[in-house]
Amino acid sequence: MSVEELVQAALRARENALAAYSNFKVGAVLQTVDGKIYTGCNIENATYGLTVCAERVALWKALSEGERKFRRMVVATATERPGTPCGACRQLMWEFCGDIEVILANPQGFRESHRLSNLYPHPFDEKSL
Ligand code: THU
Repeated sequence: MSVEELVQAALRARENALAAYSNFKVGAVLQTVDGKIYTGCNIENATYGLTVCAERVALWKALSEGERKFRRMVVATATERPGTPCGACRQLMWEFCGDIEVILANPQGFRESHRLSNLYPHPFDEKSL
């Protein structure tokens, strides 16, 4: 799958977001090194605090299916300048995916590539224990 196809899958996943409280829909695609993809969207509920981000939904889906090696995460929002993953997601992506590529995208054609290590420098991980 090309990067643009991954972006389109993330934009489609975004449509499934359950974002009744924030009205902020996010879609994600996590690609394994073998090229398989796992999609995610943010899921909110009435407690607010139990919200799960799109990135984590994709990550949990992949890990629970036995995937362990990842290449990139695409995150799609509809904002003019797409936001980067939240701190909690950066931590979990770092621990379970390592230094993957993180692509930010929106429906208007914005595409930006980052390394997770640039978004999340000096992480706490198993080497810190
Ligand atoms: N959200 C994500 O799904 N991913 C991000 O990278 C940032 C925030 C969600 C959480 C919540 O449902 C909504 O966006 C507003 O914060």
